[in-house]
Amino acid sequence: MKILVTGGAGYIGSHTCVELLNENYDIVVLDNLSNSSKESLNRVKNITKKSLDFYKADLLDKKQIIAVFSEHKIDAVIHFAGLKAVGESVSIPLRYFHNNITGTLNLLAVMDEFNVKNIVFSSSATVYGDPASLPIKEDFPLSATNPYGRTKLMIEEILQDVYISDKNWNIALLRYFNPVGAHKSGEIGEDPFGIPNNLMPYISQVAIGHLPWLSVFGNDYNTPDGTGVRDYIHVVDLALGHIKTLPKLFTNPGLLIYNLGTGSGYSVLEMIKGLEAASNKKIPYKIVDRRPGDIDACFADPAKAKEELGWETKKTLTDMCKDAWNWQKKNPKGYR
Ligand code: NAD
Ligand code: WQD
Repeated sequence: MKILVTGGAGYIGSHTCVELLNENYDIVVLDNLSNSSKESLNRVKNITKKSLDFYKADLLDKKQIIAVFSEHKIDAVIHFAGLKAVGESVSIPLRYFHNNITGTLNLLAVMDEFNVKNIVFSSSATVYGDPASLPIKEDFPLSATNPYGRTKLMIEEILQDVYISDKNWNIALLRYFNPVGAHKSGEIGEDPFGIPNNLMPYISQVAIGHLPWLSVFGNDYNTPDGTGVRDYIHVVDLALGHIKTLPKLFTNPGLLIYNLGTGSGYSVLEMIKGLEAASNKKIPYKIVDRRPGDIDACFADPAKAKEELGWETKKTLTDMCKDAWNWQKKNPKGYR
């Protein structure tokens, strides 16, 4: 079986490539390296002792996608490629809509042309907006609070319309909660360009001494310690969710929607403590104003994925912090 992984050089993509190769899938990676480094794929090959085909190509250029499909008989696509920074999406929405939506439309058109109709799409818990209750189930109402989230919601809707028009498509919408951590080897991990937007890479960079302190965005949320609560999921557990989805996709199930989360929430202060324990370093922090758009708490009900895919998370908060720190310590400057 040959899988095309768009965005495969990125954070979640590279970890999924490792697990795909471990399962003996053949893989082709398409990535424009706009938010990643090719070195991640060299590391994937080192970890697995297996090879993969890489195309530095952009989903905005249809000819480049056609070239990949012409050269390989693809059985399914895992579609990670996209821009993902919420704040940036508010400043440059047109770039986000163009990259994420036009890119996906180009990919779908080429898949259709080559009669490849199996796709796993990286959606996000952000499509639940500010949920009325917790834990979040897949049938909760959907909404978007920023342009990035709107691209995810719009792509979910596009894929549903594609399925309605042609029942030969098999589509899995995987809604990730908050991916953190790294491969246990410390060879691959999250390598944000510039100052990190997300909590865990920020804390890791404070621990390593690149940043002086963490700003904790508010301590007056309706949560046990007042700081925001999220469902942090180890990136390897998340990658394995894709591995469990593929065989299901090949049974021609039509449209599938799953939450990929642990079902537990941890606060910002708990994450700080977790990384302090893993790194044996004090993490200085200051309480500052809330970040606009943030919600009190968000965690998944992952029961549907467990029941239908036989997937559940195995790794603990301690594993997430230990592996995040191992990656940071071994690669203080990321892949550079
Ligand atoms: P990432 O930025 O590390 O990976 C995305 C990859 O896509 C990058 O390597 C980038 O170079 C590539 N890319 C972007 N636009 C492209 C284009 N037009 N053509 C070709 N390649 C392109 O991000 P990630 O954290 O690995 O996220 C992967 C996917 O999961 C994204 O779609 C993201 O929206 C989604 N997601 C991420 C999170 C998270 O917190 N990391 C949570 C929920 C969903
Ligand atoms: C986590 C918690 C912050 C940074 C985002 C996207 C979401 C999904 C995952 C892609 C919150 C607090 C953070 C900091 C802080 N991505 N925080 N200081 O906002 O839950 O989700 O990434 O789909 O769409 O919105 O993740 O890591 O940014 O924040 O106090 O410097 O940490 O307020 O409570 P978030 P995050």
